[in-house]
Amino acid sequence: MNDFHIEVSMAERPNDRAARPEAAVDPSAVLALRNISKRYPGVLALSDVDFTLYPGTVHAISGENGAGKSTLSKVLSGIIQPDAGRIFVDSQPVTIPTPTEARRLGISAVPQELSLVPDLSVAENIGVIALPSRGGFVSRRALRAQAEPVLHSLGLKIDPLSRLGDHSPGIQQLVMIGRSLVHQARVIILDEPTAALTEPEVRHLFEVVKRERETGTAFVLVSHRFQDLARLADTVTVLRDGCHIITSPMAELTHDDMVRAMVGRTVERFVHDAQVAPGADTEVKDGGSRPRLSVRHLSSAGKFDNVSFDVRPGEIVGLGGLLGAGRTEVARAVFGVDGFTSGEVFIDGEKARITSPRKAIKAGLMMVPEERKSQALVLSMSIRQNLTSTGTRRISRGGWLRPRKERDISLQLIQQLGIKATGPEVLVGTLSGGNQQKVVIGRCFLDDFSVYIFDEPTRGVDINAKFQIYRLINSLAKKGAGVLLISSELPELLAVADRILVMREGRLVADLPADTATEEQILSSAMV
Ligand SMILES: Nc1ncnc2c1ncn2[C@@H]1O[C@H](COP(=O)(O)OP(=O)(O)OP(=O)(O)O)[C@@H](O)[C@H]1O
Ligand SMILES: [Mg+2]
Repeated sequence: MNDFHIEVSMAERPNDRAARPEAAVDPSAVLALRNISKRYPGVLALSDVDFTLYPGTVHAISGENGAGKSTLSKVLSGIIQPDAGRIFVDSQPVTIPTPTEARRLGISAVPQELSLVPDLSVAENIGVIALPSRGGFVSRRALRAQAEPVLHSLGLKIDPLSRLGDHSPGIQQLVMIGRSLVHQARVIILDEPTAALTEPEVRHLFEVVKRERETGTAFVLVSHRFQDLARLADTVTVLRDGCHIITSPMAELTHDDMVRAMVGRTVERFVHDAQVAPGADTEVKDGGSRPRLSVRHLSSAGKFDNVSFDVRPGEIVGLGGLLGAGRTEVARAVFGVDGFTSGEVFIDGEKARITSPRKAIKAGLMMVPEERKSQALVLSMSIRQNLTSTGTRRISRGGWLRPRKERDISLQLIQQLGIKATGPEVLVGTLSGGNQQKVVIGRCFLDDFSVYIFDEPTRGVDINAKFQIYRLINSLAKKGAGVLLISSELPELLAVADRILVMREGRLVADLPADTATEEQILSSAMV
């Protein structure tokens, strides 16, 4: 394989060298990029990148948040145009001006943020591009007929005419792949496909990918999860700051090699500090030994039932369970996003009447939601505006915003979280997926709250930022706050939490101390 020597290729970053002659394209490649560059205002998102994809293989693209992975995927799928470089399909130079042209060339993409229409049926989502029409009408029979074999090949036993939004993220992800199969794609791009999936769903997805690979389909897989790459990828390419760093057979790269290639150095791992002894006096004045958060007999018809737990000052309580077990639902009810049927919530010993997130924040509760785009960010506003739009106690004085203070705090958070942007005024919509997530997390550190709820805080975030987020969560607990951490990543729960609660089908079924709990233990309580 070409240039696998990390040191060598790091020394000669494409940025530093003069125009590089175009490398020959292997005739057996289904797709090849040569000398591809893409510039955004202030950012070189791709710099002179080569990429070669062979039929019947899974080629992973890895790298930190903002490294250029999604940009590369978008170039391939006709969503954006490169400023320089050439694209070859079957050794023939092509241009991909539109997604339609990409599909005509056999390239199909499943983007980082799902782009399905939840209110339409599964079948319509699968056939959404090639709507079978007769006299201008969409025939339901035709839809069903077109969808059924596809669902079958995806191993999905669902009604093609059911509403897509009623299915889990895992099924929705598979439906997106179904769309690619309908178009008989030869190249399928998966950008962070497992971020929202449960382990059984991941396994299912990977089975489908492996079967399609057997038939010669080539996959481009973008993922931050090393275990995804280890399980599925044949080849891996690492990008850093828009530059190609290495391409190597997956089997020849260790986890440490990859991290080094991604960040250019060895990353210091997160080590869980001894927490403030739960209940002990803390730096926070009114902490005492009262729980920061007490949830009592909380029920919501059809979602969760009789949930009770405490989070004490200085404690990080993990909440594990399968997707759909009711964890997010409980968090949303506590934070006032959704109501609940019965039960009580106490913050610092006081009964809280939380009927909206605004009231929750007022009562001392802060939450980082799971779905960043729809729930948490205004894409057309700047990083600074997004950071400071909720907690502004530290910034405002007498009700007036203090712009300089806002800017300083934003700058500090940008640095702390390693948000890749040229400054606080950059629009959030132009950030990469992982960097948007960091902005959502950043909001929590604007103000002192009694209780923080994090719902999948590190989803889609690179390894460096992951450890940084763990440290920040840890520092909140050290200051005496109570933290509830919802996570589907068991190593994360075990590393960060003091205690792990497990939910199954809307009920709390286990309460395990993190220092003795094991992944197997959590999993076996989470599954029936
Ligand atoms: N529309 C845009 N306008 C301006 N800058 C952009 C735009 N899209 C991407 N960028 C910038 O290009 C760089 C690469 O972004 P890209 O989305 O490719 O990263 P990524 O590797 O997919 O990261 P992540 O892991 O966070 O998804 C980032 O610095 C990003 O801010
Ligand atoms: Mg991305």
